[in-house]
Amino acid sequence: MIQVDIAEKQQHKKLFVTWSITFLILFPVLITLGFLMRAKQGQLIDISMNKFYSFMTLHGLGMAGVLFSIAIASLYYLIGTRYARLSIKTGYFAYYFIVIGVVGLVIGTLIGEFGAGWYMLYPLPFKGAYWTEWSIGMSFFSILILGVAWLIQCLHILIELSRNYGGFKNMIGWQYFSKNSPVKELPSIVLISTISLLASVFAVLAGAVMDILFLMQYFEPSLELDPLMMKNIIFFFGHTIVNATMYLGIAWLYALLPEFTKRDWKVTKLVVIAWNCTFFFILFAYFHHLYMDFVQPMSLQYIGQFASYFSSIPATAVTMFGVIGQFYRSKTRWSMVPTMFLLGVAGWAIGGFAAVVDSTITINKVLHNTLWVPAHFHTYMLMGIVLIIFAFLYYISANENTDNDIKPGLSFWVFMGGSYGFLLMFYLGGLYSIPRRFSDYAGIDTSAVRETGTTLAQIAAFSVLILLIALLSMYVKLIKRLFHSLKTITV
Ligand code: HEM
Repeated sequence: MIQVDIAEKQQHKKLFVTWSITFLILFPVLITLGFLMRAKQGQLIDISMNKFYSFMTLHGLGMAGVLFSIAIASLYYLIGTRYARLSIKTGYFAYYFIVIGVVGLVIGTLIGEFGAGWYMLYPLPFKGAYWTEWSIGMSFFSILILGVAWLIQCLHILIELSRNYGGFKNMIGWQYFSKNSPVKELPSIVLISTISLLASVFAVLAGAVMDILFLMQYFEPSLELDPLMMKNIIFFFGHTIVNATMYLGIAWLYALLPEFTKRDWKVTKLVVIAWNCTFFFILFAYFHHLYMDFVQPMSLQYIGQFASYFSSIPATAVTMFGVIGQFYRSKTRWSMVPTMFLLGVAGWAIGGFAAVVDSTITINKVLHNTLWVPAHFHTYMLMGIVLIIFAFLYYISANENTDNDIKPGLSFWVFMGGSYGFLLMFYLGGLYSIPRRFSDYAGIDTSAVRETGTTLAQIAAFSVLILLIALLSMYVKLIKRLFHSLKTITV
């Protein structure tokens, strides 16, 4: 632990509250795009197909990017006030860079109508597209700006932690296997952040390569890129970033939950092995997105199958048992933060299980490109990491004092109900073979699929409306408390 004075903590808090407010504005805007998509699929509103796909692109890239950004910002605050000195200037530099990147993406998608989806499968962004020429360059350039900001933050945190904890070998826990007992106790948040940030650095670098290749193609149309190579890079980037976001959240769960349960949660050899394995498997699990690509070497398909299974076991199993051990007979007061932590871990497990089902080759043959896919990743994002992020916001709004944490009110439970209602419609859609990424289902010949898809989308749109209203009513108290916490800082 480091000692920070009130002035330094105040600066970190201002930076974090700036991040929080930006997140709290962008999040419901992106949900609204999701609502409009579901409403269009349910034929409740009439928006053009072009608009649908530009909404889908902004929604997908935006959600993944905003959640990753707020996850890093939360860690920046926690590490910077407790574990290693972090530069406030670097924090603001990254913030403004990310704002510029987001504005660029919004212009590229909503005005230029760039609509290649977050996957942007090559050569789709360039061939036969309805969107404007400039929106392609604008969107890729904006993603590059985001990547630079993320890379700077990740490297800065990693370097400063390594100064405090005696290098990377110690940070990933290898000191626990030497004969001598560890020189300095390793906090679990440092171990898990290191693993997640290292994976993020690899992912962001791959994303930068992908982006530069896309920009080269944009400026020199005679170039021909290899579609399979591009798909591999894109999925390595996307899959790893989304998983890393989840793990960043788990890092502060390990650090903060013990404050509520009043029980230690220390790093042990088992925890070190689990997170080191996770680092290895997370880098290869993305191959499960390429099962349908018959030109992908068969050996990589098998690696994808095994890595998907194994990546979900060590970190998840160790964390689940850890969480159960933390709560069991602990007499925890069920205020907002522990409730959100518990439900967030449950959402991670439910979505993770559905993901593992989908990554099984024989099942994937049936579920591939049905609504089962958005079902599973929306579960661990919306009911997993989003809850864990909100837990952190409530923790900060309670001034990091467990006694100040408020009880979950009616709006929170309505939010939970609306969210699971929305997710259930995706799962049922998957089971009824409703295809994903269709702007509506009117053109489907099989009447059962057409009608079921439309009805499920209508119920989903209604659920989203409910969760959105509940979320906004939770905001009133949360934002007030966040600002109040700025005036009442303690060290
Ligand atoms: C209540 C909140 C949300 C709603 C209503 C919503 C709605 C939707 C809808 C309707 C789609 C298109 C599904 C299809 O393929 O037919 C979609 C796709 C997607 N959503 Fe969400 N979503 C929400 C939250 C999130 C969150 C928290 C994330 C976090 C990463 C996210 C990431 C994505 C991504 C990556 C796609 C795929 C875009 C693509 O295929 O290019 N969404 N969402």
